[in-house]
Amino acid sequence: MIRLEGLTKCWPGAAKPAVADVTLDVPEGTSCALIGPSGCGKTTTLRMVNRLVEPSAGRVQIAGEDALRQDPVRLRRRIGYVIQEVGLFPHRSIAENVATVPVLLGWDTARIGRRVAEVLELVGLPGFADRRPHELSGGERQRVGVARALAGDPPVLLMDEPFGAVDPLRRRQLQDEVLKLLRELGKTVLVVTHDVAEAMRLGDAVAILRDGALVQHAPPAELLAHPADGFVAEFLGTDRALTRLELFPATAARGDAAAAGPPLPADATLRDALSQMLARGARAVPLAEGGSVTLEALLEKAAT
Ligand SMILES: Nc1ncnc2c1ncn2[C@@H]1O[C@H](COP(=O)(O)OP(=O)(O)OP(=O)(O)O)[C@@H](O)[C@H]1O
Ligand SMILES: [Mg+2]
Repeated sequence: MIRLEGLTKCWPGAAKPAVADVTLDVPEGTSCALIGPSGCGKTTTLRMVNRLVEPSAGRVQIAGEDALRQDPVRLRRRIGYVIQEVGLFPHRSIAENVATVPVLLGWDTARIGRRVAEVLELVGLPGFADRRPHELSGGERQRVGVARALAGDPPVLLMDEPFGAVDPLRRRQLQDEVLKLLRELGKTVLVVTHDVAEAMRLGDAVAILRDGALVQHAPPAELLAHPADGFVAEFLGTDRALTRLELFPATAARGDAAAAGPPLPADATLRDALSQMLARGARAVPLAEGGSVTLEALLEKAAT
């Protein structure tokens, strides 16, 4: 659905390209998380997809069409864009902000009203239509950013550190909610983050950039188990084996050992299970739905 071919950006006067020959496919209805150190070219790559930055070389295809041959303004109406600072118009109501693209698309007032109510409901903000951006919390504003990006029902969404301004606890919840929503809606998503755990949660695939070049592109579990080189291994962190355990539900390592103590919550991951084993000094912890997770089964799962 999104296809980048040899995508390159050389900023005027720069000694080397900010993005160098990046080739990447994001299949329809899937998400790809773009990660890498600060300055490696993530934002530049994203902004070449909706042509807020003009590529120096290479191709961008969206749904089989050459994005570089289309009128950039029209192209952007078909691509949702969510950024960290959200960029809401401060003097317009939430409804007016969310309606931005539908208005540009020339929808009639009744249809716009229905759509605004629908997307605000989707992101869990019904009743916020008449407020102004400054009357919302940072997390609520980010939800409005998502609602606005969804309003014109674009098949493709670009997100640049969309949850950066939210505290860690709310952030996880917001990630889960937005991800579920985008999956249900079948959107194709390219999301930039510098948070490894967030990338693993958000991406069906994860792409790592270094100095503008793509160094590895793989599903999260594969990436964490087999980093392509020392740079990737270091970037993913020495705790990458623990990060990987977060990708599996606790039920993925069932054993038949008897276990005591409070059961794990239904949404617990294998990382939570291991943490509880350490906290309790136990080799098994009970599952809410019966049975238990055992250290033996967990080690076996971690090795797959
Ligand atoms: N408008 C611009 N003009 C010139 N150089 C730019 C411009 N925008 C970005 N750059 C340079 O391009 C390189 C890549 O920047 P980019 O913003 O894509 O990095 P990033 O991976 O998004 O970093 P971060 O994680 O800090 O957001 C950097 O060296 C940056 O200085
Ligand atoms: Mg950036």
